[in-house]
Amino acid sequence: MKVPFVDLHRQYKNIQSEIDRAVSTVIEETTFIGGRFVNEFEVEFSKAYSVNHTISCGNGTDSLYIILKMLGVGSGDEVLTVANSWISSSETITQTGARVVFVDAHPEYYSIDETQLQKKLTPKTKAVVAVHLQGQVCEMDIITAFCKKNELYLIEDCAQSHFSEYKGKKVGLFGIAASFSFYPGKNLGAYGDAGCMITNDDALATKLCMYARHGALKKHQHQMEGVNSRMDSLQAAILLAKLPHIHQWNDQRIAHAARYQQGLSGIKQISLPKVRPHTKHTFHLYVIRAQQRDMLAEFLRLKGIETSVHYPTPLPFLPAYQYLHHVADDFPVASRLQYEILSLPMFPELTREEIDYTVACIQDFYSNNPA
Ligand SMILES: Cc1ncc(COP(=O)(O)O)c(C=O)c1O
Repeated sequence: MKVPFVDLHRQYKNIQSEIDRAVSTVIEETTFIGGRFVNEFEVEFSKAYSVNHTISCGNGTDSLYIILKMLGVGSGDEVLTVANSWISSSETITQTGARVVFVDAHPEYYSIDETQLQKKLTPKTKAVVAVHLQGQVCEMDIITAFCKKNELYLIEDCAQSHFSEYKGKKVGLFGIAASFSFYPGKNLGAYGDAGCMITNDDALATKLCMYARHGALKKHQHQMEGVNSRMDSLQAAILLAKLPHIHQWNDQRIAHAARYQQGLSGIKQISLPKVRPHTKHTFHLYVIRAQQRDMLAEFLRLKGIETSVHYPTPLPFLPAYQYLHHVADDFPVASRLQYEILSLPMFPELTREEIDYTVACIQDFYSNNPA
């Protein structure tokens, strides 16, 4: 049996007529940039998210950068974010001219460790970028209170957590603004690059929109220099077709996680993902911690099962951040995780048989390699 890590083709086949109709309508209308599909997506995403403003843009990285930039984050400022994420969460901070300050991962939930924020605070701290990694939700009561008390902007990176919830409230609605990626493999994925920003702040929404469109809200009326970051109409039409399915797809991911949990829970050489209490984890990724991780991954590969590591090197230890001179002891949790984490196949259309086969292979591996 072959078990792919992600299979976008299965999803396409399930909704082929909706996608094909969306794509052919855009091509028939030849509205490739801007126009009704993009506007409609912004309206529908705002409705689905119960937020006042959705501003579409080119990708999730741009959405973070534009938010930080339009909040006035820049030279002389420090911004806190988590040590284990995709580099977009930190490079966008640096690109504004600010300094990124990494915070270790939580030992149980792997998102930013809220108990470490205080010791990273300095008079220069201006914002926190909370990344809801893997679909897991950060500890929002504590992070929100920390930001409020210290007058910091809270920005949520929701690239991996569309419609995850904390105490019944959707992630992305806790801070001043939130960023989303619609990279194809995300829980809600386009057929190319796409992203968006959401906010309830009217003045900020205007600025975000303006900056993403060359500093102009109306053609040729550039109030400032900006960037060109647009969601193209094909992506908007595809996302519009996919949006009504997102809750079902998230529920399927959650059911798959439960099946993995049931099958794997007796194996003492691995730890399974824990869901933070009072939250809805949407399992963008299903990440276990495994003894002999690399041997296990190779064994699974030989059995036809694709796995991945998110992420093999914590951000502070990438060559890009050598200038910060960090050592492993600065981030003991992230440092340990890098050798243990393994992402198992996870996508809505994964079958029970594929999960059971993966579970059986993992059991098989540890019965032959118990130490
Ligand atoms: C946590 C996180 N933030 C930001 C991004 C950036 O999104 P994009 O690839 O759309 O630029 C990603 C994408 O993988 C991500 O996982």
